[in-house]
Amino acid sequence: MTRTALVTGAASGMGLAIAHRLAERGDRVALLDINGDAVQSVARALRDQGSEAVGAQVDVADRPSVDLAVASAREALGPIDIVVTAAGIAAHLSFADITTDLWDRMIGVNLTGTFNCIHAAVSDMVSAKWGRIVTVSSFAGQAGADAMADYAASKGGVIALTKSLSFELARYGVMVNSISPGTIATPMLQMSEDTGHFDLERIGKMIPAGRVGTAEEIAATCAFLTSEECSYVTGQIVGVNGGMR
Ligand SMILES: NC(=O)c1ccc[n+]([C@@H]2O[C@H](COP(=O)([O-])OP(=O)(O)OC[C@H]3O[C@@H](n4cnc5c(N)ncnc54)[C@H](O)[C@@H]3O)[C@@H](O)[C@H]2O)c1
Repeated sequence: MTRTALVTGAASGMGLAIAHRLAERGDRVALLDINGDAVQSVARALRDQGSEAVGAQVDVADRPSVDLAVASAREALGPIDIVVTAAGIAAHLSFADITTDLWDRMIGVNLTGTFNCIHAAVSDMVSAKWGRIVTVSSFAGQAGADAMADYAASKGGVIALTKSLSFELARYGVMVNSISPGTIATPMLQMSEDTGHFDLERIGKMIPAGRVGTAEEIAATCAFLTSEECSYVTGQIVGVNGGMR
């Protein structure tokens, strides 16, 4: 059965790998990202490969623009069956340096943005009595993280949102799960290394698997969580972290 999937943060890193993976298995994909040029070029590349794909420049924190993008995705590709929320931002600041504006933006993108995208599309899945929702949280949201209080709080919120929503939606055949990545080699992580906040080689040695993970490993987990076979797994926080805990 061909499904329509909405993927946020699809211009880079995990969202990009997930968009490719779902398109390759035959899903129609609607790609949302704040980086408009990049997301349009991903959508074009997927269409060139024969997939049905549309891209939209969206700030997930801005509800009207999310509503608009979801409405045009629906018009172009049909009702939304799958939502994957990978858009996110991170920062490394001591608690005292987190201004209220920075706090609001972190919560606005990572937590409210997740709420906005799911909320705008969920009625399609409830009506169809089938759906798959995958949020991308973080190990930081489970364990906390040094100099990342705002980020960790936003991801803790994503975890609570995911678990809570799973109770409401299970009876409609909508499975709601979260992928909680450990340390994954993406442009976001590269930025942390470039600014001296992460030493990837050192971190890799601390991970039981002996290395950081890849966006493709996140996409493989997401492929299962958004599949037909994932029919009795909901409310789970799936760690993809090489054994780190
Ligand atoms: N890389 C890691 O080690 C790691 C670990 C744990 C969790 N995560 C989470 O995984 C998710 C994906 O991160 P990534 O590592 O692929 O990062 P990334 O920076 O490569 O990709 C994030 C994407 O989100 C988009 N984005 C940012 N703000 C947006 C907004 N307001 N509206 C729409 N799009 C927006 C960016 O343009 C980018 O394309 C994020 O939620 C991140 O917090 C990453």
